[in-house]
Amino acid sequence: MHQECINCGAKYNINEIVYFCKKCGDLLEVKYDLKELSEKVEKSNWQDIPLSVWRYKDFMPIEDRSKIVSLNEGGTGLHSCHKLGKQLGLLQLWVKNEGENPTGSFKDRGMTVGVSKANELGAKNVICASTGNTSASLAAYAAKAGMRCTVLIPSGKIAYGKLSQAMIYGAKVLQIRGNFDQSLDMVLKISERHPSIYLLNSINPFRVEGQKSLAFEICDQLDQKAPDRVVVPVGNAGNISAIWKGFTEYKRLGFIKKLPKMTGIQAAGSAPIAQAIKTNSDKIVPVENPETIATAIRIGSPVSWKKAVNAIRDSGGTAETVTDEEILEAQKMLARVEGIFVEPASASSIAGLIKLLKNGIIDKNERVVCVTTGHGLKDPDTAVKMSEKPMEVDAEMTAIENALGLKQSVSVGAR
Ligand code: F0G
Repeated sequence: MHQECINCGAKYNINEIVYFCKKCGDLLEVKYDLKELSEKVEKSNWQDIPLSVWRYKDFMPIEDRSKIVSLNEGGTGLHSCHKLGKQLGLLQLWVKNEGENPTGSFKDRGMTVGVSKANELGAKNVICASTGNTSASLAAYAAKAGMRCTVLIPSGKIAYGKLSQAMIYGAKVLQIRGNFDQSLDMVLKISERHPSIYLLNSINPFRVEGQKSLAFEICDQLDQKAPDRVVVPVGNAGNISAIWKGFTEYKRLGFIKKLPKMTGIQAAGSAPIAQAIKTNSDKIVPVENPETIATAIRIGSPVSWKKAVNAIRDSGGTAETVTDEEILEAQKMLARVEGIFVEPASASSIAGLIKLLKNGIIDKNERVVCVTTGHGLKDPDTAVKMSEKPMEVDAEMTAIENALGLKQSVSVGAR
């Protein structure tokens, strides 16, 4: 087990604190000796453990298990959505609802592993930049681990639920006069100038390891089969890369036979990866002033773009953009048809599915899993704004009957 550069293949010790390749500056990933991993997994009783991130501890880069910091993450529902599938003309649709994690987003999968690794490495200070969910998650795991936590968030642009989480878990919250990309740039520099502050954005390869458990869970929930396609909202691009890594490792270990097509969805105002895929380009063109109502994915210069582009291309998948209107419509639809309330960024996977079905890119016979990444209560303001306002009425029978359109002549018990 070691860390390896995705570009030049330079290798680094698994316990070295390094975020980018020292030779070429590219991203790193954790690599396992397949034979060793296979033997370890074979000897283990992991399949008897309930669905959760730590069911897959043998697949994770933590050596000292006494250092694990957990709030019981993973094990989220894979909801069979017959009704929504039928409305959209799709035969088999599931939603993997990551809002069911302890702090309400998929970030907890990465943070439990990232903070456990920080604990193993002896870190006492942790930091991240965030559009909201990463900061909420890191703040919670740092609290549990007894570490000092600092989070940098874009001023005025994060959803209130997420801000309240970072604050109540006791993180030092800095609101940066700027956007997410500028906040990320600052934390990269801070962790370079102050090496004792451990960086937990998704360039940290250990976070990606935790997030790959989402793929393992989907396969196990589908009786050791991968779906044909997985649709994922994309912002900084760590998650789609992590999920793809999970599927490829599961296949190499022989647990699944086929790999799914990875399909990334971005908001139209913040879509450098979708543009690169559509124009068949090897590079992304960062978006200067990203805009979308889905603040979680309001990111113009995604740090893990290369991993994401590779995941989409290697899997034969695609990427698509969706407008804010399409996102909000999909959010409402999922809530009203399937009872699943997700935040706007999460609904982009459903909006993307709708668009790709209409355009004939996704076939109605495909077995599709849409990942919904964060809980709807993260951003109640948007949900309230787009719904019909509650009616205010007097505490009086006639007023209520009128409001509900009930006939007043029917007396109680006279049916
Ligand atoms: N969905 C939600 C709800 C998110 O919070 C994020 C990212 C994404 C999707 C995109 O995932 O970045 O791995 O491509 N949120 C980060 C944050 C950036 O700071 O909370 P990605």
